[in-house]
Amino acid sequence: MVKKLTDQVTFRHGAKINGRIVQPPMLTNSGLSGGFVSQDTLDYYAVRPESASMIIVEYCYVIKDGGPSHTWGANKEQLGIQSDEHIEGLAKIAKLLKAKGNKAILQINHSGRESNYPARHGGRALAPSKIDFSFLDYPVEEITEKEIYEVIEAFGAAARRAIKAGYDGLEIHGANHYLHQQFFSKWSNQRTDQWGGSYENRTRFIRMVNDAVFKVIREEAPKDFIVGYRISPEEIHGENVGYTIEDSKQLVEDLGKNYDFDYIHVSNLNYKNIPAGYDKSYSQIYREVLPDDVKLIVVGGVTNEEKAQDALNYGDLVAVGRGTLIDPEFGKKIMEGRGNEIVTAISPEQIKISKLPPALITLFSDPRMPLQMPGRESIFSLHDLYKGDDYYREGY
Ligand SMILES: Cc1cc2nc3c(=O)[nH]c(=O)nc-3n(C[C@H](O)[C@H](O)[C@H](O)COP(=O)(O)O)c2cc1C
Repeated sequence: MVKKLTDQVTFRHGAKINGRIVQPPMLTNSGLSGGFVSQDTLDYYAVRPESASMIIVEYCYVIKDGGPSHTWGANKEQLGIQSDEHIEGLAKIAKLLKAKGNKAILQINHSGRESNYPARHGGRALAPSKIDFSFLDYPVEEITEKEIYEVIEAFGAAARRAIKAGYDGLEIHGANHYLHQQFFSKWSNQRTDQWGGSYENRTRFIRMVNDAVFKVIREEAPKDFIVGYRISPEEIHGENVGYTIEDSKQLVEDLGKNYDFDYIHVSNLNYKNIPAGYDKSYSQIYREVLPDDVKLIVVGGVTNEEKAQDALNYGDLVAVGRGTLIDPEFGKKIMEGRGNEIVTAISPEQIKISKLPPALITLFSDPRMPLQMPGRESIFSLHDLYKGDDYYREGY
């Protein structure tokens, strides 16, 4: 069967979405102090109920010290889900995103050593092992066993809050060098206790978080609640090898076999990427070890309808990140047969339509920023608006 972008898709637990475009989680750094939703956050999500058939809200940290991370905002922070007080704001986002019948998912995480905001403001950055990371400008602390159990419990509590806030599902953030990945990485995780060493030990944290999350979901969520897991397929930085495609393939196979995930989300810079020595993409390798009814989301470099269609050769669902930041009607236009009307470059005018919060304008309008976005030269001048931010004082 040739997959079409406008196909209805049914997940393992029965939830249906009306098309194959997904908005992946993207940090907006629009939160108030303590990770609370701000008016900027709401304005940004308010224009996105049809950016995709399923919209995954940016990562929210589950416990104090688990975030915020990345501080390119003007006194604004990553969102949190670490207390019941956070439910109200997150519920407003869910309502906005579900307004046109599409699904709202929430990504939950612990940033581990990447919790740079607390680390630079007198707080702590926790990691599986205390290593002198040359790329960090702050020290990390080794997370204690007691704290590991607290984090696991916090993931369960976050799942409960996501359900209460009215989300259709949640995604566990196992990718992009945050705490899940740090535990899985042989390089970051040099523990000698039951949380480090063998594959079994390095995946213990992942398995226990899954157990805590699925327990809450079984007890409290609607039957068709969607649960996903995001993974980075490799961690290889020169001579430092955290894990290879063989390791992550094993993990994906175990996640598919032992848990009830509706989807696996492969974090990548290009959906076509192929690991060294293979003739198949990462997602195609995962497909072979996953049950048929677990959907695969691919991401990376999809900027228009043609590429989105091509990405269906690699996965079941296609996530469009920067493309939906530029045009919040990316998915809607495809669903309505108007894919040729998708706006593919940012501009000062398009920023007003796409309601990019200040931190994202800062990020994409900085000439020094390697992250590319077509048309970004047209917004470089806007960067001056945010001079004097924390962002400048702290560097990247
Ligand atoms: C501004 C920005 C923020 C991001 N924040 C997150 C995040 O919260 N969680 C996550 O898993 N990935 C995050 N990502 C990665 C995206 O989900 C996506 O994988 C990446 O942008 C590649 O897709 P694209 O080429 O379509 O932009 C972020 C990317 C960008 C550009």
